[in-house]
Amino acid sequence: METREMIRSRKAVRQYSGQITDDQLQQILVAANASPVGMGEYENYRLTVIQKSEILSKMSGIYDAPTVIVVSAKHPDAMEDISAGTIVHNMELSAEDQGLGANYNMASLGSIPDGVLPNDFKPIFALTLGQTNDKFVPREVSLEKIQTNIVK
Ligand SMILES: Cc1cc2nc3c(=O)[nH]c(=O)nc-3n(C[C@H](O)[C@H](O)[C@H](O)COP(=O)(O)O)c2cc1C
Repeated sequence: METREMIRSRKAVRQYSGQITDDQLQQILVAANASPVGMGEYENYRLTVIQKSEILSKMSGIYDAPTVIVVSAKHPDAMEDISAGTIVHNMELSAEDQGLGANYNMASLGSIPDGVLPNDFKPIFALTLGQTNDKFVPREVSLEKIQTNIVK
């Protein structure tokens, strides 16, 4: 989809109708790796793709998503938090550009079972993912949602 249309079409999708394909996952991982991160320190982050139902069933707030991708870091501070946001946002846009449903997720972070993330890495942000019957249509976006001061 053309970028400006995609930006207006993206939305939180919380109902999923099936698992994503490995090819779709690969595209999403390309988007993650194409994200900007602070100081270009990509080695500070880990992506964990969770598709195992025994693990997903223990996680709360994921709306029965068949895939959850968790971004984690060893010593998260403001820069890592913000960078995790850019990674997840890039993945969301890639997923929805492929017609998948996706949503940002913080609610599940505390319920990720022990041993799922790499040792010493703490979860920062996650993306829930799956096939969806939702359609992506450019939305009207009010410029009053976020109050803006223009200083010039
Ligand atoms: C930092 C952040 C955390 C979020 N955490 C959750 C979450 O845990 N669960 C959820 O259902 N949605 C979560 N969302 C999605 C927002 O609720 C949603 O993006 C917002 O309401 C705007 O809706 P839209 O994405 O459809 O435009 C999160 C979004 C952001 C940016």
